[in-house]
Amino acid sequence: MFNAAELFKASLDAGRRLFGPGWHNRPARALVPIRSLGPSHVPRIRTHLLALSSGDRYLRFGHAATDAQIERYIDGLDFERDDIFGIYNRRLELLAMAHLAFSVDPQFNSCAEFGVSVLERARGRGYGARLFDRAVVHARNEGVQLMFVHALSENSAMLRIARKAGATVERDGAESECYLRLPPADIDSRITELVEEQIAQTDYRLKAQARQFWDVLHVVQEVRQGVRDARDRLPR
Ligand SMILES: CC(C)(COP(=O)(O)OP(=O)(O)OC[C@H]1O[C@@H](n2cnc3c(N)ncnc32)[C@H](O)[C@@H]1OP(=O)(O)O)[C@@H](O)C(=O)NCCC(=O)NCCS
Repeated sequence: MFNAAELFKASLDAGRRLFGPGWHNRPARALVPIRSLGPSHVPRIRTHLLALSSGDRYLRFGHAATDAQIERYIDGLDFERDDIFGIYNRRLELLAMAHLAFSVDPQFNSCAEFGVSVLERARGRGYGARLFDRAVVHARNEGVQLMFVHALSENSAMLRIARKAGATVERDGAESECYLRLPPADIDSRITELVEEQIAQTDYRLKAQARQFWDVLHVVQEVRQGVRDARDRLPR
């Protein structure tokens, strides 16, 4: 149990970290809203994964997954058991997503596997690393003690993300396993996740409203144009 003073301090610290002095000058990576994705996001998850090149599919899934295999992977997503996180742009395109899959083996019930993909045009902005950080906080809060990533040894970006987070990387020829031992959840990790999720949900709602607004405006403009065209065709 946490007492009120601890709760207050943790909220303050989480707020300071996000909006403390100089937050507006920090690199974009500090302020990327990452939200958890549910079944209603499946169409966007599909668009994201199908847009990956065969090379990226090879890095992500360990084989150059065909469209049909990706469809099967999506059909098999278990939103109750696992957690999926995503980063949207203002057009609500899913630029990056991560899948934190919890072990189904009761012997390893404190383990989870992390998988991630970022659209080629959105790489190098820190999204991969941010999703990893987000998954770490969530995994801790869910009682995970060991998070691992299976990556190809040629995947320098993924290995760099894991190493920077403190993971041990064991290379076995063309493949590498990264293990990250997680500390137990504390009030700080819980408040951090709560605040980040709230910000991301609000950000998503605003983007969705903006998109609706522009769609309506587009229809209004089309109607106006239609009326103008019809008027021009009338005999004078
Ligand atoms: C791996 C992947 C998720 C990285 O995403 P990203 O958003 O571009 O990564 P980031 O911008 O967070 O970069 C993370 C680090 O890797 C480095 N990096 C990025 N691309 C790199 C590359 N091609 N070679 C070496 N290092 C690279 C970055 O400089 C950064 O290091 P730094 O923090 O010291 O600057 C992305 O390349 C991808 O989706 N690949 C295809 C799928 C895949 O490989 N998934 C991982 C296996 S599950």
